[in-house]
Amino acid sequence: MCGIVGAVANNDIIPVLVEGLKRLEYRGYDSAGVAVLKSGNLERVRRVGKVRELDSALADSGLSATTGIAHTRWATHGQPSEANAHPHTSADTIAVVCNGIIENHDELRADLVGKGYAFMSETDTEVVAHQIHFFIEQGNEFFEAVTRTCALLEGAYALAIIKHDEPNRMIGARRGSPLIVGLAENENYIASDISALLPVTNRYLVLDDGDLCEINQHSIRVVDATGSEVSRPIRESKIKADAVELGEYRHYMLKEIYEQATAVADTLDGRLAGDRILEQAFGPESAAIFDSTRFVQIIACGTSFHAGLVASYWLESFGVPCRVEIASEFRYRAHAVPDDALVVTISQSGETADTIAALTEAMRIGFKHSLSICNVPESSLVRDSDICLMTHAGPEIGVASTKAFTTQLAALMLFAIAMGRRFNMDSDTEARLVSEMKTLPAKIEQALNLDEDIAEVAKQFADKDHSLFLGRGAHYPIAMEGALKLKEISYIHAEAYAAGELKHGPLALVDGRMPVIAVAPNNELLEKLKSNIHEVRARGGRLLVFADAAAGIEAEEDVQVMHVAPVDDSISPIIYTIPLQLLSYHVALIKGTDVDKPRNLAKSVTVE
Ligand code: F6R
Repeated sequence: MCGIVGAVANNDIIPVLVEGLKRLEYRGYDSAGVAVLKSGNLERVRRVGKVRELDSALADSGLSATTGIAHTRWATHGQPSEANAHPHTSADTIAVVCNGIIENHDELRADLVGKGYAFMSETDTEVVAHQIHFFIEQGNEFFEAVTRTCALLEGAYALAIIKHDEPNRMIGARRGSPLIVGLAENENYIASDISALLPVTNRYLVLDDGDLCEINQHSIRVVDATGSEVSRPIRESKIKADAVELGEYRHYMLKEIYEQATAVADTLDGRLAGDRILEQAFGPESAAIFDSTRFVQIIACGTSFHAGLVASYWLESFGVPCRVEIASEFRYRAHAVPDDALVVTISQSGETADTIAALTEAMRIGFKHSLSICNVPESSLVRDSDICLMTHAGPEIGVASTKAFTTQLAALMLFAIAMGRRFNMDSDTEARLVSEMKTLPAKIEQALNLDEDIAEVAKQFADKDHSLFLGRGAHYPIAMEGALKLKEISYIHAEAYAAGELKHGPLALVDGRMPVIAVAPNNELLEKLKSNIHEVRARGGRLLVFADAAAGIEAEEDVQVMHVAPVDDSISPIIYTIPLQLLSYHVALIKGTDVDKPRNLAKSVTVE
């Protein structure tokens, strides 16, 4: 969603704000803006488009300041336009940036219009600026006016606010959307996440839900939801400032695809010992929680949901009863709550609104415990869960998730083994799985060697409008993930089917213009999949098959085969993901789309 940066310093903060926005652009990118304090006035620059448009507008303006807020937007209320871009102001005295959604903005707007306020945008955020202004006009001090405004707001939001005649002061508020305060020598900051501030500081504190804060150059004050002054622990981020830089790569997505061997190795690091997994990785309370669990409910969205589907095949093969559901569905339906059920949420960001709400709902209706598998340690999901297992993918900037997915699968395999031990998995199976897991980084590197061949094959896809992805068993969700990647970044319509479903409908679509991509690892379902391949060929379909050389699938005029190095079935969903990621990357490259920032999408979906 949107990204927020604010700074109070004793030298020019415009470069810090712009760099921070660039680092947050992955959250949303249809417009951007800054508001700064300048000699008792608010000055605002906003532009439609990416942060670079704003950057050049700021450079042209020659603006400099020591206090300011900035925002990169992903439209929810009102189209991307300069008028709708943040910051929003009231009477040229209050400027506000907001990430989230104010659900009762219509009601507040009507009330404020009745009080004489004129609205300049279609956004929900503008009500916040006017409401604060209204309370100040009523005689409230700035902080009090913000507190009273927040009490009126319904929804999920993070705010940063400045006032024209209060140089060196900024107020922040958080409810439901992430907000951190960055600390440095004689300067302090507010941001959606620490990655925005890494060039200037790695020290920060995380605001709790309901917190308000006020910062100036030298101090920070945090007040909790009850109005009491509180101190939040100061943390140091381990992320290196250049971890979010592109380096030699043309796109973050490609960089992140190539980082997967290291990211998976980092995720497994310290969690395998000899031929066993180390359950301690899940934290001290985990043993008792796992011991008492008789049912696993996985909840996630998008790519993380696909990881959950793969895990369900693993868990059930070890005798662990498991169900997987999309968070936005889970949260709004009635459930027959199983006894002794563990809810497992999977999320790269840990801030996905639907997943957080689904977890809350699950706990409300009687699910017993919660585990979060997540890539962001300070995120809401991690904090809301009983136990967690962090993936160590490092920051993922490309909107299309790649290394987050494969590290989730590695983490889920650890979890499946931990649970499997309590059901019908024996120690020999565990030893075999652990030894296969140790080969993952090398096998991922091997799969990356297909890059050039895939770039060549991708040329046949770029002019297609539709495609079908087929898989069976645990590779069906891998086909789903392949289809999601292709549609996200190349805008080619892609659908995934369990290969056995082909003849129950989708076969009607198959002809020479519909490429069919089959994921065909050498496992017990291979012969079944080969029959499905024949069904496609018999209808004049053109196939691209990912299979290992021993699978016996020969290239023919209508069948192209990409040979994936032999891999054990236990880990092959992770390995077969890599060529599908590369395929979508190269197709998008040929089509010339914005690979890292595909249209209409945002990295972190912090609104419903
Ligand atoms: C697709 C993608 C999304 C996310 C989904 C959940 O490439 O990235 O489908 O997987 O929005 O996000 P997280 O994992 O942050 O909860």
